[in-house]
Amino acid sequence: MRKIRVGSESSYEVTVGRNLAPTLVEDISKDVNQVGLFFAPVMKEVATALKSELSVQHPQITVHLVPVPDGESAKTAEFVQSAWTFLGEHKFTRSDLLISIGGGSTTDVTGFIAASWLRGISVIHMPTTLLAMVDAAVGGKTGINTSAGKNLVGAFYNPKSVWCDLTLLTSLPKEDLQAGFAEVVKCGFISGNQIMVLVENSGAAILDLNSEPLTDAIVRAIEVKATVVEADFKESQVGGLGREILNYGHTLGHAIENLENYKWRHGDAISVGMMFAANLSFKVGICNQDLVIRQQQILQTLGLPVTYAGDFNRLLDLMSIDKKVRGTKLRFIGLSDFGQPTVINSPSQSDLEWAFAQISGEN
Ligand code: GLY
Repeated sequence: MRKIRVGSESSYEVTVGRNLAPTLVEDISKDVNQVGLFFAPVMKEVATALKSELSVQHPQITVHLVPVPDGESAKTAEFVQSAWTFLGEHKFTRSDLLISIGGGSTTDVTGFIAASWLRGISVIHMPTTLLAMVDAAVGGKTGINTSAGKNLVGAFYNPKSVWCDLTLLTSLPKEDLQAGFAEVVKCGFISGNQIMVLVENSGAAILDLNSEPLTDAIVRAIEVKATVVEADFKESQVGGLGREILNYGHTLGHAIENLENYKWRHGDAISVGMMFAANLSFKVGICNQDLVIRQQQILQTLGLPVTYAGDFNRLLDLMSIDKKVRGTKLRFIGLSDFGQPTVINSPSQSDLEWAFAQISGEN
């Protein structure tokens, strides 16, 4: 069992290991009277097992199983309203607890419900996808989507603890594990050599769920995220680049997801986005070509896509409405070296086109 402390505002621990349910339950305070166990549809068995564990270790606690709609359909005002009604009917107080079991949508919406109910009750996250373990469930971003866009309503709200049980990844389709690894290596690219060396030494075998390097890479990715959010919890970037560096590869990646009607996996889209950002960094003269080549080899070793043949003008339009844009200027996170993220402000149209040509196979 490995533990990472996240020290942003209220500090909490992320535990990475296997078969964590008994330890998670042991960690729950004796003062809790009720638990709302919010679970994604595919996690019903895991939620039921956790409920049984809770009744054995804490027979005084009333546990409610609350199914959460699948995927992004969980992140709606309607679902949040129904959850508030439920918590009201059962008189949940500040000494009660919510637990989320599922991917990023489940942890995002349950986190938001916890942040808003009684202005904040405790929440524990048990992420069940790699993407949620290394990104969504760590760092305190919670939220829902509205007709105006994704994640536009939310709160920065830290969980009480996060439990990344690697045995839960066995039910994850291989493509989702692979795509989740894009966020793991992103943490490597923005922080230095450690994760890259793990991938280079292990090759595709790092995706084997029983491999020690897989655990090492996940733990390291969470440590990187913890360091970034500790320095800039609310993405206010005072005195430096701050949390924005976590968006390496995301400006183009989000545009690809949008253009593909969210049929592309997030990790696949940011893999291509990272290749675009690396090429752009080279073109504007802040890094050498070795960086681009090494990054591409790592992504390809993991079976992640490095090219995309969509319409660049449509992607440009979508990028210019990206919420990370300051004023009317396009802004990218680039790399001057691994571990040295840098902002690229207002790159020229020809530099953007050149970088896109490198990843669209047109060069
Ligand atoms: N997913 C980016 C962040 O947590 O800031």
